[in-house]
Amino acid sequence: MSIDPLRHVCEDPLERKWTWISLILASVMGGVLGFYALASNLHPPSNVETIDSSRLHLSEEFAEDKLGVKTNPDGSLTITMVAARYGFYPPRIEVPVDTPVTLRMASADVLHGVHVPGTNMTTMIVPGYISEVTTTFTRTGEFSLLCNEYCGLGHDQMWSRLSVVEKPGGGG
Ligand code: CUA
Repeated sequence: MSIDPLRHVCEDPLERKWTWISLILASVMGGVLGFYALASNLHPPSNVETIDSSRLHLSEEFAEDKLGVKTNPDGSLTITMVAARYGFYPPRIEVPVDTPVTLRMASADVLHGVHVPGTNMTTMIVPGYISEVTTTFTRTGEFSLLCNEYCGLGHDQMWSRLSVVEKPGGGG
């Protein structure tokens, strides 16, 4: 009498054997993915906050005069940006180096992406959701915020400028 739980499903031992092999392979692959995600602190881009993309200009946070860099009481920064065909607003932002920066971004129209080459800053900006990413820029210099999701004819002109500068009073 076999203790194989698949014996009720299928009579053929060879078929049961290969069913087990495929189940084990799938679990190993799932385990590797799970381990990699946990070990390298990967997580979905959105914190699942929703927003009405057609009314961003009326919202508390994403109205035009509220966009840009704000300093939080603990010294970290929050940057509020809108992605819209074909640009990021505000089009130029400046942040100090080695400072935790939380980007909160919303799309005013279609799906966009944002990526800063040479850093780990990348996320999708899905209409209807606020995308939040926290990162720290560790090198000073001029960077580009690029759209990396095809969003229309002007997609390859959709970018803005990020300057990472020395900390104020940091000397150097
Ligand atoms: Cu926005 Cu591509």
